[in-house]
Formats: sequence, structure tokens, C-alpha cells
Amino acid sequence: MARAEIQEKIQTLTDKVNALNHAYYVEHRSDVSDYEFDLLLKELHELEVKYPELASPNSPTKRVGGDITKKFNTVQHRYPMLSLSNTYSQDEIVEWETRIKKMVDGDLEYVCELKYDGVAIGIRYVNGQLTQAVTRGDGEKGEEVTANVRTIRTVPLSLKGDFPADFEIRGEIFFPLDNFVKLNQQREADGEPLFANPRNTASGTLKMQDSKVVAERGLDCFLYGIYGDTLPEKGHFETVQKAAEWGFKIPSKENKYITKVKRIEGIMDFISYWDKNRSNLPFEIDGVVIKVNGYNKQDELGFTAKSPRWAIAYKFKAERVETSLLSIDYQVGRTGAITPVANLEPVLLGGTTVKRASLHNADQIAKLDLHVNDRVYVEKGGEIIPKIVGVNTEARKNNNPVTFIDKCPECETELTRVEGEAQHFCPNLLACPPQVKGRIDHFIGRKAMDIDGLGSETVHLLVDKGLIKTFADLYTLHFDQLIDLDRFAEKSVNNLLLGLKASKNQPFERVLFALGIRYVGETVAKKLAYQFETMDRLMNATQEELIATEEIGEKIAESVTLFFAEEKNRSIVEQLKGHGLQMEVEKMEMAGNALDGLTVVVSGVFTMFSRNELKTLIEQHGGKVGSSISSKTSLLVAGENMGPSKLKKAQDLGVEIIDEQTFSKRLEE
Ligand code: IVH
Repeated sequence: MARAEIQEKIQTLTDKVNALNHAYYVEHRSDVSDYEFDLLLKELHELEVKYPELASPNSPTKRVGGDITKKFNTVQHRYPMLSLSNTYSQDEIVEWETRIKKMVDGDLEYVCELKYDGVAIGIRYVNGQLTQAVTRGDGEKGEEVTANVRTIRTVPLSLKGDFPADFEIRGEIFFPLDNFVKLNQQREADGEPLFANPRNTASGTLKMQDSKVVAERGLDCFLYGIYGDTLPEKGHFETVQKAAEWGFKIPSKENKYITKVKRIEGIMDFISYWDKNRSNLPFEIDGVVIKVNGYNKQDELGFTAKSPRWAIAYKFKAERVETSLLSIDYQVGRTGAITPVANLEPVLLGGTTVKRASLHNADQIAKLDLHVNDRVYVEKGGEIIPKIVGVNTEARKNNNPVTFIDKCPECETELTRVEGEAQHFCPNLLACPPQVKGRIDHFIGRKAMDIDGLGSETVHLLVDKGLIKTFADLYTLHFDQLIDLDRFAEKSVNNLLLGLKASKNQPFERVLFALGIRYVGETVAKKLAYQFETMDRLMNATQEELIATEEIGEKIAESVTLFFAEEKNRSIVEQLKGHGLQMEVEKMEMAGNALDGLTVVVSGVFTMFSRNELKTLIEQHGGKVGSSISSKTSLLVAGENMGPSKLKKAQDLGVEIIDEQTFSKRLEE
């Protein structure tokens, strides 16, 4: 194919994928099957890898992330990002409306919107292309998080229709509740501490260095303001509607997320509607925002020092009820973490009956100074599970402070607590029933060994019958043992055995993830697998070697070394090895020999490739990836924002330095 043809093909595929993404994520409509969509995306990605000079930074393939941002640049806002004045009182909304009406000539129109509880973002588009996304920061300057924002599917990368040549759109990035719940379920399964609430998690996610992780988390974004020198409409409401034509996800009129009203009664109706109905939303809001619609009226009203006079936020009070603490349950998780949960006298809160509230850990109980049978205040705040926020000490009838258990409620083993950590643990990994079952459940899970024909119920049955004690025992099961079990017929036994056999082909990184090492989730497992390549090397790695791996910190390194220091764990790994599971990364296919015998170091931020893609390309072309610059380095592929000392060292050593474009050309040659 000629170059122009390839360019056209890339453009056609890009347009197709963009249109399908918009239909799916903004209009909630599937125009093709997932399989067909994946094929298109794959075709586009392959062309981009083959012809990197033709790939756009706004390609929809960037939605899956991959770019690493080492340091977020500070950027000056072109229009300061102000905050809103807010109130909890409806009377003050009436006063605000009366006041501003007097300040302008003629009638006012108001736009009522939801106040999304997330993180503010400003996204700039030049000639219809997303060029920069910046957080609020201090309102004057924010941090550039473009690579991460590109992964949010509802944020268009290139626009359609008749858009202004240069403008900024502002909105709120938030965690949809279902994705937040899924994330926490996954963390629980991985033995990682749970995130407290969607807002803080959205904020933390937006500042992550690896955009791939951001892409996996599924953030979303609603837009609430457009800033530019030439806007097509005269009012906020109309401009927001127009933005939908350019491809943005805007709040829907049909769902009553946004409305335009002329009178204070309309504003009050909107407030009461959402005060009652907010608990049914698939995302969190902390109030509503009322804005004057006409831009000329907004200009007339102007600003106070901190916020516009033309807008005000009405915040909802977190609903709080009083009820009795009946008892405390202590749950034992897969990793042995003990979580106290309060049983409450059932009480109505935010439209649902609440019977349980999370207490997190022993520190929380001590902080509340909780006593047996206390009358407690319960709130549904930012957290999904209601929370005990205080005690009505006047109603206290006893002097029995709650004492945290010291033995595991499941196996009676003495609990441990690591210095400086809030959580208690049951250390009886190999015999405490929920830990044994939980570990095996994790091992067989969809993202781990994904064993066909085996589910959690069967695992629990096998453990209860004493047929397995660890996940390695799964591979010793045979037909005669299984056929005797309730609900098992010849077909289901054969399916299970076939599923186990097939799982032996699962790649090494999955085996590593399946082991259930604390803090080693899917992404960390991949990083470790690619860095150390074989289980033996990883098992014998020192803390220092582990920390030297990209994105592996002290906490993970310590957890990995502790895991492999345990003789029982090493023995389980040996058994798995004996059963034929994959214990090293698959050797990659070679694509050329342009880098034969060269040690290549990659440093900085790249636009054409992710760092991992670069490293794979180096190896596929016969090169070795070096971790730091030394006299052994043959070539340095330098991206943007590379550290000056590194650059100087390379120059001093006379290392050849090339950019990613030159690098990709060299591979082609
Ligand atoms: S308008 C100049 N509209 O609330 C005012 N803000 O203190 C620009 N927020 O940090 C903001 N939903 O991130 C506006 N519908 C909405 C909003 C909204 C949430 C956040 C925003 C800002 C804070 C205002």
C-alpha cells in the first residue's frame, strides 16, 4: 500500500472506532459486536505500530492507555478555575435570586444542574483535537494529566460538526458507582486495602503515572462549561446542547440532569426532586448548581474575589439517623484481614433500610470510643456502605467499651497486627477456612487461571470434603474422587478435569497473579513477570532488585520477599511447577535484527509508543533493554522531559541519542 493509502486507511478506521465508541459510551447503543469492535481496533493498532509516523496521539487506541507520565507538568490556566459559593439553606437560594435580579435589566433564565462529586478538569481542543487536560490545582495553575484523560471513553479525542477553532471545556471527572464497587471487589480479592469513596479515588486515579491502569478503572466525565473567545450560542444551556453535537457527553434533559427555568419555583422544584432522588443516581452528587443562562447577563453580574455572582451551589446535607448498635461481626478476608462490621437496629436512611455499617478497623472503634449497645449516629456520606459517625453518649447506659477480638473468629488463631498498620490479620494462611477457600477462589478466578468447569461453590465443597487444602491440590484431583460428589455427573467431572488441564497453558503472569501475593494485582504481576522472566529468578530476587522494577515500591517488594521466604509457599510453587504450569514468560517473536547486540536505554515520555511497546520493539529487533545509562549503553531513545543529569551522562559517555521517530525509522531500515 502507498503511504497516502495507509494514511487514509488509518483515518477511516479511526473515524469508525470513534463513532462506535461514541454510540456505546455516550448514547448507550451497541452498533457492532464486541468482537467486531476489537478487530477494528486491532487493525488500527497494528497499522500504527507498523507506521508509527502516521499514528496520531489522539488515536482511539490510546483509550487503553500505556503512556507513562513521570512528572505532571504545571500549567497556567488560560481562564482561572474558580469555585462556586455554596449554601445548605434554601432561603439563601431565594435571597441570591432576589439579589441578582435587582442587579441586571430584564428577565433572567436559570440553568439547574447537578453538582457532580468528583474532580474538576479543563480540556482544551484546538482545531477539533484534544490537546491538553489540566486539573484545577490552585485555580491559577493545575497539573497536566492529558495522557490519563485520553483514556476516558466519554471524552472525545477529536470532534465532529461545527466546533470553535480553539476552546476549553470544563467538567467533572468522577467514578461511576458500579465501577467503584467492582474496583473494590477486585481489591478485596487481591488482598489490597479498599478505597474509601469514589471522589477521592477518582482524584487519585487521575494522578496515576501509568495511564493503562487509569484506562482499566473506568472513570467518566460530565461537562458543565465552555470557555472560548468565540462561542456559537448566547447562553450556557444552548452551548452545552451544542457540545453534544461535537461529540461530548452532556447531562441529559430527559433524565432531568439539567433543566432551564425562569422562576425561583422551578429552581426549588429541581432542588427537592434531587434531594429525594439522588440516591438512585449511578454516580454521586453533593448538591445542585444554579447558573444564570445568558452570557451577557453573566458578564453583567461578574465575579466576587473567589466566585461568580451568576452561579450558586446548593449542597445537600448528609442524611444522619440515630439507631442502636446490636453487635459487631468480625469478617475474615482472603488474605486474613479482619474487618469489623456493626450490626444495627434496622433504620431508614436515604431511601434504604440500613442494618449494617462498616467500622473499618480497631483504630476506628477506638476513635469513636464505641461501647456495647451504644446509640450511634449513622450517615451515608461519600462512602457506599453507611458509616457510624458518632455516638450519642448521653443515651449511654453502660461502661463497657468494645474490645477488639484477639483470636480469629474462624480458626481461633491469635491475631497479629503489623506495626503502623490499622488492620488486624489472622496469620493462619494455610488452615483458616475462609483464607483457604478465598485463596483457591482467587486462584481459579477469571483474571487468574480462569478454570472452566470450576466455580466457587465446588471449591468450597472440595475443601469441606478434605479433598484439597491448597490450590496446588486442584491438579491432583482425579475422576474417581470427583464422581462421588453430590451434583457431579460424568460430564461435569470431565469438564472440570479438562478445565484444569487447559489452565496449565495460562501465561506466567497469570500464574503469578493467581498465587494471591498481597499487593500483587494483575498489573503488578505483569510488571514482575516481564522484569524477572522466570519464577525462579523472581523467587530469589532481593528487595533492591524488586524495587528497581518500574512502579514497584517498597511495600510490594516486601510483600513479595515475605511470600517467597515462607517455605510452605515455595513448596506450593514447586508443586505447581511439577504439574506443568507456566513458570516463565513466553519468548517473543523476532521482527528483525536492526538492534542486534546493542544495549538500548529508554528514557522520558513518548507520544508514538508506550514505554513497554518500545521495550518490546527493542527485544523483537535483537536488542537488550538497559535499565540505566552506563558505559555498556549503545543507544539512548530519549523522549520528552528526560532528566537533565541522565542526558548529560549519556552525552559524556558518547552514547548515541535518538528520538522515537528516528528509532522507528531505524527499525524499518
Ligand atoms: S461550575 C465558576 N457546575 O464544583 C464556576 N461546577 O466549587 C465553575 N462542580 O470545583 C464551576 N458540578 O468541579 C460547576 N455542574 C457543575 C458542577 C461543578 C460539580 C464542581 C467543580 C468545582 C466545584 C465548584
